[in-house]
Amino acid sequence: MPAADLEDQSAPRYSLKAGGARKIARDQRQRVCQQRLGGAITIEDYPAASQGADAPKGEMDFHPAEKLACDIAACTGRDPADRAFGSIDDDILVKLERRLGRLHARQRIGIEDDHEARMLGRGLGFFHPRKWRRSPTIIRGALKLTGLYRRARKNAERIQIRHQDILLAQLPPAFDGFTLLQISDLHVDISGGAMQRLTQLLPGLAYDLCILTGDYRGKTFGPIDATIEGMARVCAHIVAPIYGVLGNHDSIRMVPALEEMGVRMLLNEAETLERGKHRIHLVGIDDAHYYRVDNIEKAVSRLPDDEFSILLSHTPEIYRQAAHADFDLLLSGHTHGGQICLPGAIPVTLEAELPRRLGAGLWKYHDMVGYTSVGVGSSVLPVRLNCLPEIALHHLRCADANTADRAAGTRTARERAALRQ
Ligand SMILES: [Fe+2]
Repeated sequence: MPAADLEDQSAPRYSLKAGGARKIARDQRQRVCQQRLGGAITIEDYPAASQGADAPKGEMDFHPAEKLACDIAACTGRDPADRAFGSIDDDILVKLERRLGRLHARQRIGIEDDHEARMLGRGLGFFHPRKWRRSPTIIRGALKLTGLYRRARKNAERIQIRHQDILLAQLPPAFDGFTLLQISDLHVDISGGAMQRLTQLLPGLAYDLCILTGDYRGKTFGPIDATIEGMARVCAHIVAPIYGVLGNHDSIRMVPALEEMGVRMLLNEAETLERGKHRIHLVGIDDAHYYRVDNIEKAVSRLPDDEFSILLSHTPEIYRQAAHADFDLLLSGHTHGGQICLPGAIPVTLEAELPRRLGAGLWKYHDMVGYTSVGVGSSVLPVRLNCLPEIALHHLRCADANTADRAAGTRTARERAALRQ
């Protein structure tokens, strides 16, 4: 493709060259500001919370368009994903290959297409355990039978703002007090009430940087339009620079639109933040839970060994690789803290392979501090029990090694109590 095509202003804008990211980020920031000031782009706000949708769509429910795709597939034997949503645009594919490398782009897109075809074409068998465990009908029915459904729906909108002082031995002094707003697992298209509450809370927060740790879509497959519209509404209320990574519910097809709205996506990539003579590095990896196209080695390949670095990963399951790659801080989500928990915030399942102490809140593994957000949205159904949704404000603090060691233990009893309702 000629170079001129890559600079087409009407096309989705990618940083294809080192050093291009900052200029694009500035342009995007202007665009987000225009949106916030009621400029050229108008974003409708969320409808009122508690919309009364008694049966919100969940992962196993098919929308009419998806049902149609299945019907077409059954008649024609064609791949339903191709029919319903079209193959990835060639122009986007070329740009993704240039930016991510041919292998990463093709693996991500290929696995997505395989998954979508499987979900739309054959689906999971009736007796597949995942189908039962993640069935909205079964979860809703069980909650109604136990009289907990109404409370669980309300809980899903009761977003907690968690302030977290994180003591870090290697933090450069210029970044003492630097505050990161972490928003994780939005699932915007099935968490309308929580998103409406989130847009009310965001203007009152003070932070230097916002990070989004993935899972923007409700389902793991299907159209992305509702997700993009929902994300645009949320991002219009975020002031600081925004960085994001993809989760296991997300499609790489979302990347152009997310970057258009001002989110700098880190796909096995890194950005350096500077304050005076000091700097820290922000590294983001692609999904390590389902797609497994994460590549820490590539992401840090241009970074010096001995400088402070933060890893953004949707899932904390990467904790061992991250700790031994000498990251100072790992910020992640994915687990939802269990979402439906037993009294005492004890999760029934975390949908992740990791020690339970890493499933929510602050923790430490070797010299690396980690924080696992329980998320702001909900998966399958907008319901939560004994695990309220959250957004987190991480205040980074300089500390000597001993103090940092003591502070970054597992969740305290006080933190556990805050998770209950
Ligand atoms: Fe999630």
